[in-house]
Amino acid sequence: MAEHSDSATAETFEQPTEFAFDSASRAEMATILAKYPAGRQASGVLPLLYVVQRQMKRATGSAWVPRVAMDAVARELGMPPIRVYEVATFYLMYNTKPVGKYHLQLCTTTPCWLRGSDEVVAACRKATGIKGWHETSDDGLFTMTEVECVGACVNAPILQVNDDFYEDMDAALTAELIAALRRGEPPPRGSMTGRLNSAPAGGPTTLTTLDSHPAE
Ligand code: FES
Repeated sequence: MAEHSDSATAETFEQPTEFAFDSASRAEMATILAKYPAGRQASGVLPLLYVVQRQMKRATGSAWVPRVAMDAVARELGMPPIRVYEVATFYLMYNTKPVGKYHLQLCTTTPCWLRGSDEVVAACRKATGIKGWHETSDDGLFTMTEVECVGACVNAPILQVNDDFYEDMDAALTAELIAALRRGEPPPRGSMTGRLNSAPAGGPTTLTTLDSHPAE
């Protein structure tokens, strides 16, 4: 392992000097690439970067895409490495530096903001000690990232942890969630207020007399 400076920030972090797809990733890649016509495999660059990110999570506990892995994706797809770098650095979903075990992705776009995302952000900062965006807590457990609408506005505000959405958040629920994650006991994803999917918060207001399990 060699230490490199991340030229985009003043921070330094270790970039691995080598990367090889493991057998689970190889199996995933075969399924993904089979979806594309011959000669069009480069279109698989997005899912292959996710394959890398998941493998890094399995191997190191941190879901990110090192530069050597971008090179490996480029070789796999027969495309210039710079084109993979462009994709990996454009989309926020790819972490180009290590993140904590729990990646807290906080939506602060208008619907979530109107429903109290500022309080959720403040509660995350208070519970983790993280001051800025893209920072990781001293214990390495949490990284906070501000994200744009994640498409779940109906249950705003949303706090995404790794790949899971926690919905209908407020300050108290956020503090409870962070404490549970710290204990290694992530609660079931979804609404944290008990709302059924995206039904009205107070329960159904129409079709209330329908039997949800009609007799055969
Ligand atoms: S604005 Fe937050 S999920 Fe849409």
